[in-house]
Amino acid sequence: MALVVAALGACDDAADGRDAQGDAQDSDGASEVDPCELAPVLTWDNFGAGFLVENCQPCHASGAVDRHDAPRAVVFDTRADAAARADRILERAVNVPEMPPAGGVSAADRALLEAWVLCDLSRDR
Ligand code: HEC
Repeated sequence: MALVVAALGACDDAADGRDAQGDAQDSDGASEVDPCELAPVLTWDNFGAGFLVENCQPCHASGAVDRHDAPRAVVFDTRADAAARADRILERAVNVPEMPPAGGVSAADRALLEAWVLCDLSRDR
């Protein structure tokens, strides 16, 4: 009887070993999980439009009263306008954060901008 118990114990240990291995595989898999799965769900309606109006459209809107020399063609009136320049928005407002020129966008908001551009604007979620 003691032998049977010991054998069962051995089986449990073996099963635990497999579980541990399974977990390790899961965490390997996790590194390949799309980072957008972990990002907040940001859309044109709940983030993009408001962010651009507040921080970019004072100079970039097609109807901006004073563009401060922002190029005429660079407007963010619609999601399609922004999507057409998704890479440039990332470059100028996240990677090299020089837009808006006067600053004033927090690091946290720039991180949200990056997540929105990468996970929503540049592709379907
Ligand atoms: C105070 C006015 C002003 C605001 C606000 C502003 N910009 Fe600009 N933007 C400019 C000017 C001036 C230029 C042209 C000079 C330059 O490229 O640096 C420009 C150019 C650009 C360009 C085109 C050049 C390129 O590199 O492709 C992009 C894209 C851009 N801005 C993105 C943004 C974004 C995104 C925001 C908001 C986070 C923003 N800008 C806010 C004034 C502004």
